[in-house]
Amino acid sequence: MFLSGRIASLELSKTMELNSRALELQNTGKRVVRLTAGEPDIRTPDPIIEAAYLAMKSGKTKYTDNRGILELRKKISKYVNEKYQANYNENNVIVTNGGKQAIFNALFSIINPGDEIIIFDPSWVSYDSQIRMLEGVPVHVKSYEENGFLPLEEDLEKAITNKTKAIIINSPNNPTGIVYPKEFLDVVTSLSIKNNLLIISDEVYDCLLYDNTYTSMCTFQEIKNRLIVVNSFSKAWSMTGWRVGYALAPEEIIDQMAKIQSHSTSNVNTPSQYAALKALEVDNSFMVEEFKKRRDFLFEEFKKLNLKFVKPQGAFYYFINISEFGLSDIEFCDRLLEYGLAVVPGSAFYTDGYIRLSFAASFNELVEATKILKSFLKDRRHVFNEN
Ligand SMILES: Cc1ncc(COP(=O)(O)O)c(C=O)c1O
Repeated sequence: MFLSGRIASLELSKTMELNSRALELQNTGKRVVRLTAGEPDIRTPDPIIEAAYLAMKSGKTKYTDNRGILELRKKISKYVNEKYQANYNENNVIVTNGGKQAIFNALFSIINPGDEIIIFDPSWVSYDSQIRMLEGVPVHVKSYEENGFLPLEEDLEKAITNKTKAIIINSPNNPTGIVYPKEFLDVVTSLSIKNNLLIISDEVYDCLLYDNTYTSMCTFQEIKNRLIVVNSFSKAWSMTGWRVGYALAPEEIIDQMAKIQSHSTSNVNTPSQYAALKALEVDNSFMVEEFKKRRDFLFEEFKKLNLKFVKPQGAFYYFINISEFGLSDIEFCDRLLEYGLAVVPGSAFYTDGYIRLSFAASFNELVEATKILKSFLKDRRHVFNEN
């Protein structure tokens, strides 16, 4: 009776739920390899930690500009302009409490009740819930493994109505690890112009790329007035707990996001902003090399196991098709957990019949995980073939 129906109907993130169950099992003394996490297992680089410490020692412990310190907003715009030949300035930037708050505040700034927002499935866990919290309507467009997890243009066109406000895209993608080719982004861009839509481009994994060249939406000058780009320090510099992200957008939208932030959270915590300022100077290529090694190791192992998947080109996830094993993805994850390996069911990303396995874990854990998977699949194939 006291609760908001809008919020009561939401579920807690399924990724967190599985992680908690794996932790519970671990606490009973069982060895569990957890490949559920969406965060790098690598330490935040020391220069970043030192920058935060120095900032605190020199008194940088008070409120700042609610949009973020000017030096950081300037440095972010310079960094993005150089990286993607864009032309943003500090007024196009707001520093947020992680990429998550950037997406939430961006949606809050644009959604009127009943507005439809298009998302592509498999989709990151929070888009749907955030849209619902804000009285928008999430419209899920499926993408298929056979098409490399790229949505079909005709499906996207069919999903657009006169209530559509925006399309959210996410490349490199969580959970599939795919990177959208420029040709696909051209399609999204022209549809957004033709139908007068905004694009929210979630690029939080844009530093973690293993093969292809990457196209950021920032490079499409023709949609600058309808584009909100979200990024974060969480994955790129292994700073998930520092909670620093940002949005780049037309000033008019940044002004709305700043209003929301000023009345809700105020600025991102001050030492973290100084840490982020330093992070932009820190070479993170060692992380990319490390993750690439792990991705390549798992690729060979999964091929040997005859598993079906699209090879990830970015981020740190494998999205594996488990439909041949005669179990729902949730049952599959439950049984696999009994063998000592925790992964996330595809339904957490609105796509049944898959599991997401994160390779943001140590090499030893990945070796152990492949052994567990091998014995589980052997038993499972055996049972399944007998029935
Ligand atoms: C696709 C995607 N977007 C946004 C985020 C939010 O990242 P953070 O709020 O930690 O910066 C995540 C984190 O898992 C993610 O996977």
